[in-house]
Amino acid sequence: MLSPSASDKEAFITAVAEAAAAVAASYSDSSAFSGMDPYALREEIAGLPFLPEEGIGWDEALRRVKETILPHMLRTWSPSYMPHLHSPALIESIAAEVIIAAFNSSMDSWDQGPAATEIEVKTVNELCTLFGYSGGDGVFTSGGSQSNISAAVCARDWWIGRNGGWDVKKKGLPDTWRRLRMYASGISHFSFDKAAHLMGLGYDAVVKLPIDSRCAIDTEEAERIIERDKADGYLPFMIAATIGTTDFGSIDDIAELRRIADRHGMYLHADAAYGSGAILSSYASRIGDLSLADSITVDFHKMFLLPISASALLVRDSSVLDAFQLHADYLNREEDEEDGYINLVGKSMQTTRRFDALKVCISFMMRGRNGYREMMDRAIGNAEHFYGRISSDSSFIAPVAPSLSSVVFAIDSDDETNKRIRRRLLSEGIVIGQTVFQGRTMLKFTLLNPALTHEHIDGLIERIKELAEELR
Ligand SMILES: Cc1ncc(COP(=O)(O)O)c(C=O)c1O
Repeated sequence: MLSPSASDKEAFITAVAEAAAAVAASYSDSSAFSGMDPYALREEIAGLPFLPEEGIGWDEALRRVKETILPHMLRTWSPSYMPHLHSPALIESIAAEVIIAAFNSSMDSWDQGPAATEIEVKTVNELCTLFGYSGGDGVFTSGGSQSNISAAVCARDWWIGRNGGWDVKKKGLPDTWRRLRMYASGISHFSFDKAAHLMGLGYDAVVKLPIDSRCAIDTEEAERIIERDKADGYLPFMIAATIGTTDFGSIDDIAELRRIADRHGMYLHADAAYGSGAILSSYASRIGDLSLADSITVDFHKMFLLPISASALLVRDSSVLDAFQLHADYLNREEDEEDGYINLVGKSMQTTRRFDALKVCISFMMRGRNGYREMMDRAIGNAEHFYGRISSDSSFIAPVAPSLSSVVFAIDSDDETNKRIRRRLLSEGIVIGQTVFQGRTMLKFTLLNPALTHEHIDGLIERIKELAEELR
């Protein structure tokens, strides 16, 4: 255990240095994955001791990790890794994780993290300013899903407060309000379905809106559907705009959705888990004015290149976070607040919570706007390069021009060939995405890694074409 004793400090420094050296040594080529098949990997991992009678000690444990685990870890920093919104981590933010783990602060009460609480409060305030919320508030969460689910809870309580009020915290939903409905793009993230389930409304309460040719919500149709539902006695309470859909990176029209939400007395949430990073890029105008939304999901473990987990829910009006306010004698005493001790537990669905704000604080401070702009511009520019190449090549289909850093495409052949191409690339240590669009199997590049070059992308295009010939 880390303590002030000289030997514990020495052991800490040695263990961290040896772990860092082992990670660096495990990365001996540019591939993203060893290519080992799942059965062989499972068998290899099965040989690791779990809870031996006598522990094997750090040196031996590290040896096993180096031998059995690290060679088959997925290397997010590889230029051959591009299947998901799953980023490589900036070096300073990995060092920040050491600080976070060493102090093991918890964000629920000031006395479990004095500096940590003050840093999260400052970071949230600065983020509110960055996204145009003057006087807003927010909270760090475990990820975009938790941010979206929290937003749905805030939206429901906000709507209930404006529509006669009801003690939903204590009594749950009255029968009539089981007709509450939320609206999101047909290609929105499934965390809204999870939110509906968790809130006792069920998946049917999430009305999936049709999308246009750019894969953004068709706003005319959206309003028609909301009006139809109101006429049928449903209670539309929230629209979720997606600012960067998971597959396409497509962006809903926040200004138009704001107008619709206002006309129908609805809450507007912006799920910018993916697209929020673009605010620091030269392409910021593409995401629209997110301050028009009542709340925003910002994921730092996607475009911002910080280690998992790092996300925030920002809210325009701090009172909506009252949805999570709950008094516990042992944590958030009233006299604490009066004397300036901030207990963040009242803003979150979590109790014990990581000090993820430190990663944002360190990376933002170190790199500044210009450093981030350069990285974001490279990611978005790479997607434009890739799309430019394949949209002028008749071997490929690429239905939607990228708004952010993702491109969905297929080799102009049958679904099986596309699937086999992805599997073969995986065995070569190249990991790309696969999804379905309009019933057809598609491949996907999610280009978050700023170290990726046009030459590398061009090489991959050629490799995919070769495989298509071979596997057709
Ligand atoms: C648009 C969007 N929203 C929310 C999420 C969920 O974020 P997380 O994986 O951090 O929970 C994702 C995940 O990819 C996403 O693409």
